[in-house]
Amino acid sequence: MTAVLWISAHVTVDPVLHRAALFVHLASLVLGFGGVLIADYLVLVWISGRSTLAEAIAGAHRLHLPIWLGLAGLVASGALLEPNLASTLTRIKLACVVILTLNGLQALILSRRIAHAATRSLAPTLTIWGAATASISQICWWTAVWIGFWNAEH
Ligand code: HEM
Repeated sequence: MTAVLWISAHVTVDPVLHRAALFVHLASLVLGFGGVLIADYLVLVWISGRSTLAEAIAGAHRLHLPIWLGLAGLVASGALLEPNLASTLTRIKLACVVILTLNGLQALILSRRIAHAATRSLAPTLTIWGAATASISQICWWTAVWIGFWNAEH
């Protein structure tokens, strides 16, 4: 994040590079947020009784790599999009990215706990933990997407 802030403040970006970075930004958005939505969808499939918990967890586990790659791509390309660091909305967006990173790291611990529990139903603490993790993730992703579109329009 420090590198991103430094690049944002010090590197001048020509229009061609800006456009290329925007393409990478949107491709990374599809990869990262797409992975998150599919992982949440797999959990909904389990909740509706159409898969086992183990299947849902295994599927969601496989999606960690594309999600992290997408988030890393968003941060790297975002630094080249000349973000206005003085804007409150942009600062909120960067805070969302930091929260998403921390939330993703603790989600790794959660998914390991759930995999170890390996029962048909989930203990209440793990259920609440999972619901909170998914909610934080959805709120931060949608906020970052909304601010991205807003900043591009205005
Ligand atoms: C979860 C992470 C992120 C998401 C979901 C996200 C999403 C978006 C979206 C949807 C756009 C609109 C593109 C368009 O309509 O043309 C956008 C634009 C932009 N993003 Fe991000 N972004 C993320 C992270 C970042 C980061 C970390 C930075 C900067 C360090 C950044 C800087 C920008 C800038 C400057 C634009 C405006 C580009 C332009 O119009 O030229 N983004 N972002």
